[in-house]
Amino acid sequence: MRGSISSILFDADQIQTRVAELGAEISRDYQGSEVFAVCLLKGSFVFTADLIRHITVPTRVDVMRASSYGSGTVSSGSVKVLYDLDADVADKDVLIVEDIVDTGRTLAKTLHLLRARNPRSLKIVSMLDKPSRREPDINIEIDYTGFQIEDHFVVGYGLDFDEYYRNLPYIGILNPNS
Ligand code: PRP
Repeated sequence: MRGSISSILFDADQIQTRVAELGAEISRDYQGSEVFAVCLLKGSFVFTADLIRHITVPTRVDVMRASSYGSGTVSSGSVKVLYDLDADVADKDVLIVEDIVDTGRTLAKTLHLLRARNPRSLKIVSMLDKPSRREPDINIEIDYTGFQIEDHFVVGYGLDFDEYYRNLPYIGILNPNS
C-alpha cells in the first residue's frame, strides 16, 4: 500500500455528528415524500450506508458507478458510466449521494444522465466539497454539503488512493510519496 496519512482532517466523531445533521435536514425537507437515494460507487458507499440510517422518511437505494479518476491522485478528465441503476427514476424524488465533488465532472455527467430520465426532483448530497478545484465551465449547486475542504488529497470514509484507505473511519490527508 502506497502513501501515508499526514494528518486527520475529520475524525470519526465529527463525521458521524455531521452525517446525523444531514440526515435530519434531509428528513425535514422530504417530509410527506420519499427519498430515492442514488449511491455513486464506489466512494460513497460508506457515506450512503451511514446517511440513510438518519433519514426518517421512506427511503429506497440504488447504486450507479461513474468514474472520472485513473489510478493515483490526478483526475483523468473523462467520465464513464461503468454500472447503471436498476431502477427507473421517472417521477421519483432522487437524491444523489456523493463522497466528494472535485472538478464536478462526475456529478455534471450524472446529473445530465438522470435529468433525462424525468425524476420528480433531483438533489445532491455530498460529504465533501472542494470548490477550489471546480472546472470553470461546471456550475453545480450542491443541496447538502458535509464539509467544504481546501485542495488536499483526502482518503478514508470511502475515499481511496489506488483502492486502499476506503476503510478508514476518519478522513485524512494523504502524502502519496511516503
Ligand atoms: C471520485 C469521487 C467522485 C469523483 C469526484 O470517484 O468518488 O465521484 O471522483 O471527482 P470529480 O468531481 O473531479 O469528478 P472516482 O472516479 O475516483 O471513483 P470511486 O468513487 O470508485 O473511487
